Amino acid sequence: MADAGLGPHRRTHMTHGATPTRGSDPAPFRVRMPVPRVLTPVASYRDVDVYHQDIRASRVEMLPGVRTEVLGYGGAFVGPTLRVRQGRRVVVRYRNGLDRAVNTHLHGGHVAADSDGYPMDLIEPGRSRFYEYPNTQPGATLWYHDHTHHMEAEHVYRGMHGFYLVEGRDERRLRLPSRDHDVPIMLTDAHFAPDGSLIYAPEDTPNRTTLLANGRPRPYFPVAARKYRFRLLNVSNFRTFHLSLDRDMTMTQIGSDGGLLPAPVRREVVVLSPGERAEVVVDFGPRRVGEQVVLNDVSGPVLRFDVVTRAADDSRVPDVLRPLPPLPALGSGRTDREITLKVDMVRGAAYINDQVFDPNRVDVRVKRGSTEIWRVTNLDTDVSLDHNLHLHLVQFRILDRDGAPPLPGESGLKDTVLVPAGASVRIQVTFGDFLGRYLYHCHMLEHSVGGMMAQMEIVP
Ligand code: C2O
Ligand code: CU
Repeated sequence: MADAGLGPHRRTHMTHGATPTRGSDPAPFRVRMPVPRVLTPVASYRDVDVYHQDIRASRVEMLPGVRTEVLGYGGAFVGPTLRVRQGRRVVVRYRNGLDRAVNTHLHGGHVAADSDGYPMDLIEPGRSRFYEYPNTQPGATLWYHDHTHHMEAEHVYRGMHGFYLVEGRDERRLRLPSRDHDVPIMLTDAHFAPDGSLIYAPEDTPNRTTLLANGRPRPYFPVAARKYRFRLLNVSNFRTFHLSLDRDMTMTQIGSDGGLLPAPVRREVVVLSPGERAEVVVDFGPRRVGEQVVLNDVSGPVLRFDVVTRAADDSRVPDVLRPLPPLPALGSGRTDREITLKVDMVRGAAYINDQVFDPNRVDVRVKRGSTEIWRVTNLDTDVSLDHNLHLHLVQFRILDRDGAPPLPGESGLKDTVLVPAGASVRIQVTFGDFLGRYLYHCHMLEHSVGGMMAQMEIVP
């Protein structure tokens, strides 16, 4: 249970202090990676689709042959995928079948404040509530997850997350791999007790050594010898994945948090900090049936692709994907905002600009429609601790990292940015037409629970 206290027991999760125990980590490639089911609307009208989601506890197979209790959407560890279209409104009724108040945030979504899943804006047990998603933004790999005050880390860890894929109007004609060859892959890590239950403690991050892909430990996934579009999402509370393929294969990155990049980028390593997404195309075309390709993290294998059949392939990766909108002019927006990230080892707290989150305090006021530059600095050089920063509501642009151009794959629309220890990253943000309070925070959720979270108010 993650409590709100900031006592010394919360201290060690700020670092990688403890020694990992690998006791319950099962052998890799024993189980097949599932693809989360796609949710069907319960009703469709001229301009809106309506979905129902039940949030409940259930027991599911994660480790081979063992049942694990999870908290999830539809009772699954990886909730059902919503596949929606740009320009078509969606309403989701979330029913809370748990014994505690919860909510849902659409990560990366351009939504009104009362549908954003504010930490205090909760659905009581047994109650339901409608959230509305306008889907006016370009096609992108978004995701939904719990955002209950002080509980988001434990709730997300136990399964309260799923994919929300917006298909852009421009996507069909690009002829990227689609349907069965467009596969969302949710990556995380967990610590299982010998009986298969999920152990959660904020300071336990070093012991979360079982890597999961779509909720199964280091699984395999049968593929045809052709191109696939994989939507990689890191939902881990703490781990940054450094992903690469073996057999000298590379990935072609086509998208980031906010959707398609202007042009594909070849990547040998894809780095994903918590909350970030990368869409990649992997071409198994040159592989023979019977060959295997492993997706590795620096800490070990994540997933094995088994080439099991040949296949025709008329998909492609065009040289031009989606032009980036021109950077809006700064106008009257502020260009001197300084955001600092720092943990306090003595207090066991985590700060933005030296303060823990306070729902009664507005940290930043911005004007609707304005464009600002924020400089985000990670001050944790002494403990060499990375952070990231996620802004609700917006997709921003990374201007530079310590004066150098953004990394490959980072030049598109982003809602979450890795800020390594000691680094300063400048981002340019345009605030749209919604008003109200929205969060920004480190998406290493043990840090946001520890206080590394703040809010902006968008005013007329
Ligand atoms: Cu995905 Cu405020 O978070
Ligand atoms: Cu952090």
